[in-house]
Amino acid sequence: MKVIETPLQFLPRLSELMGREIWIKRDDLNGDILTAGNKKRKLAYLLADAKQRGADTILTTGGPNSNHARATAAASIQMGFTPVLVLAGRAPDARRGNYLLNSLMGVEMKFSGARTQEEMEAALADFADQLAQQGKRPYVIGVGGSNGLGSLGYLDAYEEMRRQAEQAGIRFDWLFAAAGSGGTLAGLIYGRDLARDQTRIVGISPWLKEEKIRQQIDRCLAELDRLAERKRTEQTGLGYQVSDAYLGKGYGVPTESGMEALRLLAQTEAILLDHVYTAKAMAGCLDFIRRGTVKPGEKVLFWHTGGAPGLFVLE
Ligand SMILES: Cc1ncc(COP(=O)(O)O)c(C=O)c1O
Repeated sequence: MKVIETPLQFLPRLSELMGREIWIKRDDLNGDILTAGNKKRKLAYLLADAKQRGADTILTTGGPNSNHARATAAASIQMGFTPVLVLAGRAPDARRGNYLLNSLMGVEMKFSGARTQEEMEAALADFADQLAQQGKRPYVIGVGGSNGLGSLGYLDAYEEMRRQAEQAGIRFDWLFAAAGSGGTLAGLIYGRDLARDQTRIVGISPWLKEEKIRQQIDRCLAELDRLAERKRTEQTGLGYQVSDAYLGKGYGVPTESGMEALRLLAQTEAILLDHVYTAKAMAGCLDFIRRGTVKPGEKVLFWHTGGAPGLFVLE
């Protein structure tokens, strides 16, 4: 699966309004597999591994409206695997958002009733065992495709962005992105450390509490230390920040600040965020600017990780 280069764009109207230079990395346009978003970069590595191991069936999990699950199903179809989604909770009443897209692709979906990440992973492992007993060769991709292998896709992405930034003659002081299961942020942090850039990276959590998301990011970073061809050293690392302050009532529940951010970007730049991940991440980015944590003259990169199909569950 070929990963296409996504645009790095300046946001002129939003920048003027906010009084800071704001750019966006358009991984929402990474879409030659059914509106893929950030997942495609991880899946390129994960599905290549599945192929090498001789798998025939790809299993993954997520919420009923999961972007990751839909993107995994779509990429699996394109690579000749059979996708099976073992989703949390129960089947939604209406076919909307990613649930609709999975149905149109004819993807087998099981609803496990799981509510926590641990329950989701357990249901996934159970179902993989059942398939193996039936003679299938399942390959299991955990929540969000976040492990060291998947994160390699975001190490590449950081390098891609850096080349584009160099061409545009810009260096970023800040990078904001949604941090759901952590693999995206881990790859970006690793890429930044390898490049020895001074960009501060902030992950905004739309799901997990700060301590838990940190654990996941650190686990991916440790795996990257083993897997990456070039290794970073501790001295090169600036570290990173995470914040769960923009999460609101919980995963998938829209927040006032997120919806304000979503409308603002739609109205100033005609770029669509999603209410689950990227709107909350943008709310965090705007809040850092408004509070003056991002100082005048500092340059900001917002990493758009996609997710707009999930928007179509909103009333
Ligand atoms: C649109 C969108 N943005 C961000 C993320 C978070 O990425 P990660 O799980 O790598 O932290 C997801 C994950 O599902 C997503 O769908």
